[in-house]
Amino acid sequence: MITIKKKDEINKLREGGKILSLVLDDLQKMAKPGVNLLDLEKRAEKLIKAMGAEPSFKGYSGYPAILCTSVNEEVVHCAPKNRKLKEGDIISIDCGVKYKNLFTDSARTVPVGKISEPARKLMHVTATALHIAMHQVREGNTVGDIGAAIENYVSSHKLSVVRSLVGHGVGYKVHEDPKIPNYGKPKEGAILRAGMVICIEPMVNIGGSEVVFEDDGWTVTTKDYSLSAHFEHTILVKENGAEILTK
Ligand code: MF3
Ligand code: CO
Repeated sequence: MITIKKKDEINKLREGGKILSLVLDDLQKMAKPGVNLLDLEKRAEKLIKAMGAEPSFKGYSGYPAILCTSVNEEVVHCAPKNRKLKEGDIISIDCGVKYKNLFTDSARTVPVGKISEPARKLMHVTATALHIAMHQVREGNTVGDIGAAIENYVSSHKLSVVRSLVGHGVGYKVHEDPKIPNYGKPKEGAILRAGMVICIEPMVNIGGSEVVFEDDGWTVTTKDYSLSAHFEHTILVKENGAEILTK
């Protein structure tokens, strides 16, 4: 079932989204060579609590952490472990919070020190794909319009969209309907309505689109070990456009 959020709920989502973006801003600055992934996790816990919100990933379907910290060929859903970042890594930091009973979700890939040119291009294309997708968000457009915009843009840069993981509705739960694939055909799929809240989250690989789901039940990596990037925002569908709630 696709839900429509009410005005007061949207205001709470705006507040929660603001908190989440401040948390990610802070973690992004912290992601320097030598920093341990477990330190990012601890910092996230402290900040989320200090701002009166709760982490939403920990315990969700048994996920063990507040953050997903996916490094280099890791795509998504990597729980922070005892590992130090090193110069040249790229790290995707994904976090969700619950604030006043409503959920927001956002991710960004950030550089650790100086990174390679292909890594920089991968991050730039993935971030831009998310923005291009947001231009498709308005009442009456479809989920397929979003996916097609992402797929076309990414493939025009000779990079690959991950197809076995998708975006989603959000707000009352971590994951709601509809699914928001990062591929599709214009005019196909669920129709967007004002008041819907969705997460658009392109995952893009330098090599092939195939990913491997590790035995721990969470970790997703690229099959060919190529670098992967991930950007995600929680977005409100409006009559004439989109509002980013996690900006
Ligand atoms: N943004 C990711 C997603 O929507 C993070 C989910 S982690 C989980 O899939 F633990 F909540 F599953
Ligand atoms: Co998500």
